[in-house]
Parts: sequence; structure tokens; C-alpha cells
Amino acid sequence: MNDGPRIVVALDVGSGQEALKLARVLDPRLCRVKVGKELFVAEGPRLVQELAGSGFDVFLDLKFHDIPHTVARTCQAAARLGAWMLTVHALGGRAMLAAARDALEGFDCRPRLVAVTVLTSLTPSDLEELGIAGPLEEAAFGLARLAKACGLDGVVCSPLEAGRLRTALGPEVCLVTPGVRPAGGVVGDDQRRVATPREALAAGADYLVIGRPITRAPDPRAALEAVHREIHS
Ligand code: C5P
Repeated sequence: MNDGPRIVVALDVGSGQEALKLARVLDPRLCRVKVGKELFVAEGPRLVQELAGSGFDVFLDLKFHDIPHTVARTCQAAARLGAWMLTVHALGGRAMLAAARDALEGFDCRPRLVAVTVLTSLTPSDLEELGIAGPLEEAAFGLARLAKACGLDGVVCSPLEAGRLRTALGPEVCLVTPGVRPAGGVVGDDQRRVATPREALAAGADYLVIGRPITRAPDPRAALEAVHREIHS
């Protein structure tokens, strides 16, 4: 599952120009890149193709959530764009998850399909208001198990949950963790429950999504190389 770079740089910028400027200084041998909603809505599919054409594996993080037919067709459109990894909301339910997974069969380079469970912005009282019973962590684990049962490749999770999820879901499930902060770095942003790259990998993460510590560094390439060294030393 985790051949190639384990670092995924989140290109959380507002324009294709900025994204491509960053991509030019990053190294596809050391990282993959993540395109989220802001950048995709601003720039569209061409940017994904350009990044893929520059040698990067593109994690298209659009968190699809709709009726099964629509999500299945959308996943196929993303696969045709050359995305390496896609996200869907596990809350879309069993039929939607299975339809998304089935829709990707038959692609030569099938994108990995991972599920988002409970958004980290939600609180226990938000879940209660939504009619979801029980502790938040149990809801997240239940959704992760559902994603696995529907044949998805893995889930997005906090590095602090990766160890428990790895134990619960087994070795073959792909764990993608944001909330990663390089050792010795200054956090100084909105991520609170963080782990270093080595801690996240030790807990069982396959891929580390890292944005600002690399993209906002004075020298993004040097910052990427430093994380790469931290992982491989
Ligand atoms: O800049 P930073 O390293 O915090 O970026 C992390 C990336 O991971 C962002 O694109 C953010 O939207 C995403 N993410 C997250 N926490 C989640 C899910 C996704 O930080 N629970």
C-alpha cells in the first residue's frame, strides 16, 4: 500500500499559479500533493492534470457525499483525471461507499479510495444534535469499520487515533493522517492534537498530510527535505 513517498503536501493555496509555483520547488520523489476544495473550485480539473503531468501523485480531497449514483460517476471522473487518491464521507452510508468503490474497478491505475469519518470540527453536542448516539470516538470507529467493510482502501484519521485504528482494522487498511508537525517546529497555527512525522508513522500511519509547515516555510523544498530526513533517519 505505501510504496513511494509517504509525505503528502497539502497545497492549500487559492490559485493555480501559487500551487504550481510550490510544485516547481517540491520534489515528486519525496512527496505527493493534496488538492482540496478551495483550489479545485478556483482552478478546476486542469490543475490536477498539470500536477499529475509534472510527476506528482495527486490526492484529490473533495470529500464526496451524495447519492450513490452521483458519487460513483464523480469518482470515475476523478479517476479519469488521473487522481491517485480520493476522499468520500463515510456518512454517505453503505450503498454510497460500495458504489464509489465498485465504480473504480477496471481503471488501470485505480485511485485509492479513503473515507473521512467524523469531521474533527464536530463536537459531541454537534453529533447529538445530528441524532448520532454514543461517544464521538465510537462513531468515528464505527464509520471506519463501515468503510473497510465496503471495500474502501482506508480512512483519514488523527495521528493520535492511528494506533487504535490500526489495531482495530488490521494491517491492510490505509491510514492517512493530517495534524502532523515536524519535530522541533513552531506549531503556531490551528492544529491542536498533533504528532511528529515519526510518531505518526510509528502509530501506523501510511501517509502524512502536511501543509503549512512545508508550504509556508521560507524554503519549502528544504522543509520537505527535512521531514523526509526525519522520517528516514
Ligand atoms: O497546514 P496543515 O498541515 O494543518 O494542513 C493539513 C491539511 O489536512 C489541510 O488540508 C486540512 O484541511 C486537512 N485536514 C486536517 N484535519 C482533518 C482533515 C483534513 O487538517 N481532520
